Amino acid sequence: MCGIFAYLNYHVPHTRREILEVLIKGLRRLEYRGYDSAGVGIDGGNSKDWESNSKCIHLIKQTGKVQALDEEIQRQQDIDLDVEFDVHLGIAHTRWATHGVPSPVNSHPQRSDKTNEFIVIHNGIITNYKDLKKFLESKNYEFESETDTETIAKLVKYMYDNRESNDITFATLVEQVTQQLEGAFALVFKSVHFPGQAVGSRRGGPLLIGVRSDHRLSTDHIPILYRSSGKDKKTCNTLPRMDEDTCLFPVDEKAVEYYFASDASAVIEHTNRVIFLEDDDIAAVSDGRLSIHRIKRTAGDHPARAIQTLQMELQQIMKGNFSSFMQKEIFEQPESVVNTMRGRVNFENNTVILGGLKDHIKEIQRCRRLIMIACGTSYHAGVATRQVLEELTELPVMVELASDFLDRNTPVFRDDVCFFISQSGETADTLLALRYCKERGALTVGITNTVGSSISRETDCGVHINAGPEIGVASTKAYTSQFVALVMFALLMCDDRISVQPRRKEIIQGLRILPDLIKEVLTLDEEIQKLAAELYPQKSVLIMGRGYHYATCLEGALKIKEITYMHSEGILAGELKHGPLALVDKLMPVIMIIMRDHTYTKCQNALQQVVARQGRPIVICDKEDNETINNSKRTIKVPHCVDCLQGILSVIPLQLLSFHLAVLRGYDVDCPRNLAKSVTVE
Ligand code: UD1
Ligand code: BG6
Repeated sequence: MCGIFAYLNYHVPHTRREILEVLIKGLRRLEYRGYDSAGVGIDGGNSKDWESNSKCIHLIKQTGKVQALDEEIQRQQDIDLDVEFDVHLGIAHTRWATHGVPSPVNSHPQRSDKTNEFIVIHNGIITNYKDLKKFLESKNYEFESETDTETIAKLVKYMYDNRESNDITFATLVEQVTQQLEGAFALVFKSVHFPGQAVGSRRGGPLLIGVRSDHRLSTDHIPILYRSSGKDKKTCNTLPRMDEDTCLFPVDEKAVEYYFASDASAVIEHTNRVIFLEDDDIAAVSDGRLSIHRIKRTAGDHPARAIQTLQMELQQIMKGNFSSFMQKEIFEQPESVVNTMRGRVNFENNTVILGGLKDHIKEIQRCRRLIMIACGTSYHAGVATRQVLEELTELPVMVELASDFLDRNTPVFRDDVCFFISQSGETADTLLALRYCKERGALTVGITNTVGSSISRETDCGVHINAGPEIGVASTKAYTSQFVALVMFALLMCDDRISVQPRRKEIIQGLRILPDLIKEVLTLDEEIQKLAAELYPQKSVLIMGRGYHYATCLEGALKIKEITYMHSEGILAGELKHGPLALVDKLMPVIMIIMRDHTYTKCQNALQQVVARQGRPIVICDKEDNETINNSKRTIKVPHCVDCLQGILSVIPLQLLSFHLAVLRGYDVDCPRNLAKSVTVE
């Protein structure tokens, strides 16, 4: 996955230096989405007459993180950073390589030709790029990179070179290009033939446009323009001209700025007014006016795109006093779980209201089966809450990894309810599984952190977990908030069953004290840092537990492998004798989770087996469990909570441990190698 950022200033004069600063800052906010190379495309030329500079495009691209690109910009000799532009479009990209190794030539923007007539930035994968490339090569277009994206840049030039009319608009050209593309994409184009204009489109990848102006926006929605349906070929290829209804600013010459981005976190410091594009929208800015086009009208289409006001605050995406986003996000958990419950759990009368499910809850209660589908950490949130869901809904609950669920062509029926758990709401496998289940008539429910994300929009209903933006690649606060959201759902499902009321009350009162208990666990930070100092030279760590804590083992092991690159396995203690015990000796670090629930005795047995093989386990246990504390050499003591919520408390020491291990091993905590925050390709 990659990050897209483009900045268009219209009658807002800026020097080239200022424009590049905006672009670099935007990329830094998106860096968590991909960070193996980056690039920018701006107007070239050093004339005092800025308009003549837009006749050529200058590209700067570099391997490595955005910092490396910034340094490369400072090294540029042939561009004057003090030239001022009244109107300008700059496009920028941070890449996570899929097709072709990270290198300047494979970085974006990709170009149409050696003179940079058209350039494009792209997120996603073009699956038919080989066919397109073959076609374009047969027409003598020469390729220089190994990327799929380069075909898009060449294709738009092909369309331009073969245009039927000189009046063709940039939007029409891009529309012709996107019709030829298969796969997933979010794109922004820039061209010397259309100076000061930007065109963006998406299919399967997120793209939004932020708008900033001192003038009041003349409307809070942008109507969609459909291509005229005349039989005449010429009319067909030309989009209707913009009129007063189709743009934000009916009067010309007004200052306005536009920000195209794959993620709201890159635009929020400039504006909170944004438009989320839908699949196959073509958004074009020309003469400072934004219009949105679609080829054809289909049933259920919204006639307009709303200009939404983002609630996100800038400080929510800043690191503050923490050394990394991950650390900040771990320490935010006392507040983020409150935000997940805010306005939804009433601790006085023990009720739960989920606004996003209220119209569907009766239908969900009648279903035959619940299926939870997700990837990575979000999958673990499903594993963690499966038991309480089974208990409170009395329904069979399946928990599925999205990729495997799809590989198996899993049977899904109309009376199934399928949950899609995803922090980003953009994970490709989860999104494909959602579409698969929808086609089969199941009710689809999203558990997402990102309002406006594909999963949030495409599910029939759902719950936003409201954990706030999560930037660190290793997910932490989203996990605990997903956990809480799923428990709230379980509580909602049984609110009219008299027999379970005492249990419901116990869990709701557990939720009430949860933020304080999380705070208490976070005070273990220093102790865990010391433990990390002992463990960090090791090669492996095994994490064992069962019942409610099996998910903690999987999640803890995932955190450790993601950011410390140590081998780490989460082991179901019930399986110990069936293989993993062979790994245990006096050298192998073992962490065991033992809590005072229905699996307590069995966990004690597992502990004895490990000790009998000379293992020296570190035990995460209840601070009041004297038996375990007295019998173990090393314990991490966490406060007691109702059994089905205890997993939230047992995972936090492992989040902290992975963080400290990564710091001690000298790794970049927020940007682990080979991983990206959200995987929008299969
Ligand atoms: C909503 C508002 C919240 C407001 C509250 C007041 C939004 C995003 N949330 O929260 O700002 O304070 O009402 O009553 O405007 N949905 C999906 N799939 C998902 C997630 C959500 O379809 O993956 C749908 C829900 O079914 C619902 C809508 O999105 O229709 C908003 O969901 P959510 O934010 O969870 O609803 P509320 O908690 O009611
Ligand atoms: C990626 C991330 O692998 O996707 C993980 O690195 C994350 O942290 C997983 O758990 C699933 O992402 P999401 O956004 O669907 O929850």
